[in-house]
Amino acid sequence: MTKPDTIVSEPVAFPQDRTCPYHPPTAYEPLREERPLSRVTLYDGRDVWVVTGHSAARELLADPRLSTNRDRPGFPVTNERFAAFRRRRVALLGQDDPAHHTQRRMLVPSFTLKRANSLRPRIQETTDRLLDAMEAAGPPAELVSSFALPLPSMVICMLLGVPYADHEFFEEQSRKLLRGPTADDSLGARDRLDAYLGELIDRKRKEPGDGLLDELIEEQLRQGALDREELVSLATILLIAGHETTANMISLGTFTLLRHPEQLSELRSDPGLMSTAVEELLRFLSIADGLVRVATEDIPIGGTTIRAGEGVLFSTSVINRDTTTFPEPDTLDWHRSARHHVAFGFGIHQCLGQNLARTELEIALRTLFERLPGLRLAVPADEIPFKPGDTIQGMLELPVTW
Ligand code: HEM
Repeated sequence: MTKPDTIVSEPVAFPQDRTCPYHPPTAYEPLREERPLSRVTLYDGRDVWVVTGHSAARELLADPRLSTNRDRPGFPVTNERFAAFRRRRVALLGQDDPAHHTQRRMLVPSFTLKRANSLRPRIQETTDRLLDAMEAAGPPAELVSSFALPLPSMVICMLLGVPYADHEFFEEQSRKLLRGPTADDSLGARDRLDAYLGELIDRKRKEPGDGLLDELIEEQLRQGALDREELVSLATILLIAGHETTANMISLGTFTLLRHPEQLSELRSDPGLMSTAVEELLRFLSIADGLVRVATEDIPIGGTTIRAGEGVLFSTSVINRDTTTFPEPDTLDWHRSARHHVAFGFGIHQCLGQNLARTELEIALRTLFERLPGLRLAVPADEIPFKPGDTIQGMLELPVTW
């Protein structure tokens, strides 16, 4: 690990918008030079740590002295909307062990590799159906609304036992929760989602179905291992995390492939590369770019000390381009071993849905490019809007033709 003997430059503002949707913001350049730790300034003027080195990131993400409990003083908040959430319960991601472990243990069997593999036929069938409809209606098409969003949305609905018929409602609330624009919009969206899932859970208690929520009602709620509020908060995070992130990876992954014709043609001629390509795209795109923690004790690291009560962010886009771990990190290369990236985080909060996400991405991208060999952008690349830096990265729209 290189040592930040002195941190020389002025703190960079964090987070910032990307200049190109698949590269870290150019404004983060000083952070790439100062690995493994720098200081950054948040929207409210507070300075906090940002971790940018790969080995420091894995060490710190596995360190129990860093907490994800948003109630703790000093917890860093990256925008006003998220500040408004500080007193709302966040299941899993907002819990430290042992409470976190208790919740996670209930869910792990539903998110194993075996389980994700067992869903393959249904994911493939859903993918085919969506592409049938897109082909029938086009060209052109808007890929986010016709494919990238509905696929993960349908899959998470099927897994949880949430009616897909309600997708417009919960997709809209997730969008508002994450992107506002105002703090009131985000809080209102969280309240509406909680109320919706609370009512769904009450209905399911009377008329059980066969999704994960039904299992949790039967095995945990009825046994007293979970209360209703806790189950609602678990359902909320699963529903949001289950569709937003993967949708962004499909849209941004497609855009990135279309902007890298050489790599795309290599992938087409050797579809066996798809699973390593998904890993490399996860590394390269790092769509969850800014994980948030607060130190509960002093933590010496890389020649400096993070003090108790100080905020710590992790810029996954910068970490995943650490040259000591990933040579020529700005190149998209299907032949590197990208698997130890931190695009899914690391440690106890490492993404619960990663097996499912990998399976969906592999099927979605393979099928999309197989079925539409002439797929291309329908408008110039620089006219296509992408998401701002303080949210999960992805495309707002993706007009394509074939
Ligand atoms: C490509 C898509 C995805 C990406 C890039 C992604 C990324 C991440 C990251 C970086 C974390 C860790 C956050 C932190 O440590 O602060 C995380 C946690 C989590 N993810 Fe994902 N995720 C994806 C898909 C999914 C899916 C499909 C689900 C399905 C339910 C899911 C559910 C979760 C949950 C529940 C957590 C919290 C785990 C815990 O605290 O124990 N994610 N994800």
